[in-house]
Amino acid sequence: MTAARLGLPHLGFGVGLRSAHLPYVRRYRPPVGFFEVISENFLDNRGGRRRALDEIAEQYPVIPHGVSLSIGSTDPLDLGHLRRLKRLADSLDAPWVSDHVCWTGVLGVHTHDLLPLPFTEETLAHVVARIRVVQNELERPLILENPSSYVEFRASALTEWEFLARMAEEADCGLLLDVNNVHVSAFNHDFDPEAYLRALPHERVVQMHLAGHTDHGTHLIDTHDAPVAEPVWELYRLATELTGGASTLLERDENLPPFPELLAELNRARAVAVLPSGGVHG
Ligand SMILES: [Fe+2]
Repeated sequence: MTAARLGLPHLGFGVGLRSAHLPYVRRYRPPVGFFEVISENFLDNRGGRRRALDEIAEQYPVIPHGVSLSIGSTDPLDLGHLRRLKRLADSLDAPWVSDHVCWTGVLGVHTHDLLPLPFTEETLAHVVARIRVVQNELERPLILENPSSYVEFRASALTEWEFLARMAEEADCGLLLDVNNVHVSAFNHDFDPEAYLRALPHERVVQMHLAGHTDHGTHLIDTHDAPVAEPVWELYRLATELTGGASTLLERDENLPPFPELLAELNRARAVAVLPSGGVHG
């Protein structure tokens, strides 16, 4: 097993669980190391979909991955939401909970978009303080993901990778490194994705994401509707080399192929990952 990150287990190679694949997974128990679900889809404890998830969670680790924590917003943290999220994480026995380094709304308005933050000292202090509250409430580590972005703030005084590194150290949280998002943002904002990867605190990368994007010529959009692109595989190889390998999850939300196609793509991740001897290939 590779070095445990922040004392957390290495879960191997997983797939984002989508409703259309629930019957396949329950029937065939495919060889994946773990699943990730969108937390907000399962905060309600009732219903057939929730029962199916509970059954799957008895057989696989399941990570709740949120899209509405809004860690960067100036609105107060929603403590009711955090309590429901903790209940979900407890019932799944999730080793960690993840969300994004972003804000999704302000003054009670939810945009349902993962909006970029201005990378300033003021934002950093604000986000760090809120991560501490969330980790206390959830009683487990929060792992935050770099979102893709399409605009930047003139006020930013730090680079994204400087912000992430300091945030993780100062809040004592983990990072979910979305390698596709690094590629997308690097193209859109013209920075070096390899320099980004090299600058992160590698021991804090608990999990990675792989996904596909759409190329619009002048810009890339993180659409999760296609297989992982070749340059992203190259970045992933470097990311595994630098981090020593971390739990890796394949995300697909649109143009969902049959589950075995995702398994084949996951096998490519297993083959590309540069792991130390004895590394996890689950
Ligand atoms: Fe992601």
